[in-house]
Amino acid sequence: MFIKNNISVAIVIIVSLVLLSCGTEQHEKDEAVTRANQMLSRMTLEEKIGQMSQLDPGFFGGEEQLKQAVRDGRCGSLLNYWGVEKVNEIQRIAVSESRLGIPLIIGRDVIHGYRTIFPIPLGMAASWNPEIVKEAFRISSVEASSQGIKWTFAPMLDITWDPRWGRIAEGCGEDPLLASAMARAMVEGIQGDDLTDPTALAACAKHYVGYGFAEAGRDYNTTYISEPMLRDVVLKPFKAASDAGALTFMSAFNDLNGVPASGNEFTLKQILRDEWGFRGLVVSDWASVTEMVFHGYAADDKDAAAKAINAGVDMEMASSSYFDNIKRLLEEKKITEAQVDGAVRNILTVKYRLGLFDNPYVNPEAEKKILDPAFLDHARKVARQSTVLLKNDGNALPLSENIGSVAVIGPLADAPRDQLGTWCFDGQGENSVTPLRAIRELLGEKRVNHVAGLKYSRDKSLEQFNAALAAARRSDAILFFGGEEWILSGEGQSRGEIDIPGAQGALIEALSATGKPLVVVIMAGRPLAIGNELQDADALLYAWHGGTMAGPALTDLIFGKESPSGKLPVTFVKGAGQIPFYHYRKNTGRPANEKAWTPFDSIPTENPQGSLGYKSFHLDYGYTPLLPFGYGLSYTTFDYSDLNLSSQVMGTSGSITVRAKVTNSGTMDAEEVVQLYIRDRVGSITRPVKELKGFRRISIKKGETVEVEFVINSTDLAFFNGKATLTEPGEFDVWMGPNSDEGLHSDFIIE
Ligand code: BGC
Repeated sequence: MFIKNNISVAIVIIVSLVLLSCGTEQHEKDEAVTRANQMLSRMTLEEKIGQMSQLDPGFFGGEEQLKQAVRDGRCGSLLNYWGVEKVNEIQRIAVSESRLGIPLIIGRDVIHGYRTIFPIPLGMAASWNPEIVKEAFRISSVEASSQGIKWTFAPMLDITWDPRWGRIAEGCGEDPLLASAMARAMVEGIQGDDLTDPTALAACAKHYVGYGFAEAGRDYNTTYISEPMLRDVVLKPFKAASDAGALTFMSAFNDLNGVPASGNEFTLKQILRDEWGFRGLVVSDWASVTEMVFHGYAADDKDAAAKAINAGVDMEMASSSYFDNIKRLLEEKKITEAQVDGAVRNILTVKYRLGLFDNPYVNPEAEKKILDPAFLDHARKVARQSTVLLKNDGNALPLSENIGSVAVIGPLADAPRDQLGTWCFDGQGENSVTPLRAIRELLGEKRVNHVAGLKYSRDKSLEQFNAALAAARRSDAILFFGGEEWILSGEGQSRGEIDIPGAQGALIEALSATGKPLVVVIMAGRPLAIGNELQDADALLYAWHGGTMAGPALTDLIFGKESPSGKLPVTFVKGAGQIPFYHYRKNTGRPANEKAWTPFDSIPTENPQGSLGYKSFHLDYGYTPLLPFGYGLSYTTFDYSDLNLSSQVMGTSGSITVRAKVTNSGTMDAEEVVQLYIRDRVGSITRPVKELKGFRRISIKKGETVEVEFVINSTDLAFFNGKATLTEPGEFDVWMGPNSDEGLHSDFIIE
């Protein structure tokens, strides 16, 4: 029975208010804040405006004019300005030639590596291994800081359910719990243990908020997100980033429920500052302030600046509406001096926290660490753990190193820039080790028959098909590397169809017809609709864009040095028409099942009205996705058994422990990502059919059994019901298993 629990609502509110007021007091005692206040009291309005504007270096008209602006205190931050000498010189001007000596803070997008490039973040999420992701971001900060960069516009925490959206590549997938774990790891990796360490960068949780819900997956498009969805899904990783101490947030481009995110007082003020107690700095996205004019939310740039400042955007990126209008806005009383001071205080506090006032310079020795062999080793490890095995019929993989010869085919077998993926300003193709090179290094040139088959992923020419087929026929196995070029995903790179582009599908089909064992490796920035390729291949590895060391990592997996262990961080759909499809979905009033749907080809031609079942499915896709969230195979097999709960009953403020045994029943030591899901059967608002509540990556030796344990606290089951966040009494299902579709089941109740 459902009893509404007002007491727990009241407690949640009181506790957050207490925490908030402690936070405020602590903030005021904070040395960085004290120093920022002291500095603030000495600043002119022009100097304050300079701090609030992050302009592209080109804005001032040239290098000399930029230096003069820094000298005059009209420029407090730069982006896309880096390099030891350049940064040291501009910082020297800032600290020794400007009136107050305020150092600059220099930002850049270091999204999945600086020079050592790691898999795209979506790939890193597929590792389900926050520890190695944290280390990847630490390495990125070590490299980037050596070039004077002290602020990265990462992590990107936009949950999305739409693989058409090009920026799906940059985020952590579809699930709030997995994305939150990654958010924490990324922030901790970027900022390190000590913010004043020269290798620490400020993290920036972006894009706040809702950007991943762009309608039709078309970048920058409008978003409508209900408050429960916002609070229970979209905001979760941002809250995790704030709790992990992210120094900065970025306000997004999108119109959210009618109010652009960069002028949105509800999300920026009420949620971020008031509810979460975030004390850091909020920067706009690139010109997202002035774009509010296009949105039809601001009359002109001046109005846009007022709206952004009123919402709490401290610093404007790229556009100059703050720079040009703050003075007049103050005169016209559209904004207050206290607002300007608040913004500048937030900015200066971040600079103090990063130790920039004490040492703004870069040590020229630091850049020797770039592309350090240990960094490359880590990139190889992350790429291995990010790769997901989606099919392995008849144990087609792994191949033996003693194999006679292999045919290496496909447009991404030797595409050094493409394997780095999107949002990679500084990674260089020349440092990439491609699959072709790595396989040649392992097997020797003579045993590798290479024909690209297609020049690039969209190539439709059949010219090289015969040569590719001939290479396949004279080899003992075919390794096809295809997918998407890097340019097909990322910002402004959304697709309407999400199939494998060009003639790749046809080439894979023809290769399959040779009868040789066919291993397909997909390197892409999004989950593609790979139904046909899954059918044609004997084995299929989904490798995303794996970064600098994608080649050696894939070679390690293909030749069995290690078993694949990644799991999908997104549901794979059968085709674009099935979007959105995600594990967190609601059940509908007409759920389909095995019996209650009619496959497309079996629909009778003369059909009386009403005989197709009236259930929720697509005639052509059915009611299941291509592959469920959390899915991924291994070279070994894992058996789950003995699920038990410490108690079948939990109090509204209690917890239970869920345990199960996992046995490695195969022939290889390997790692498994064990997943815990629940379903809240009845709620005051409807609940999703599955919610991920825990996961653990564990290493199990062949023949060994381990017991895996999860504690579910009642607070883990809380959700926003339209008025408050609370845990409701009632019945719950629980599953522990290898993905969102399979697992041992039990249930419990909350009284
Ligand atoms: C992107 C941001 C990025 C910024 C600065 C914008 O276009 O949306 O993610 O951080 O540019 O490069």
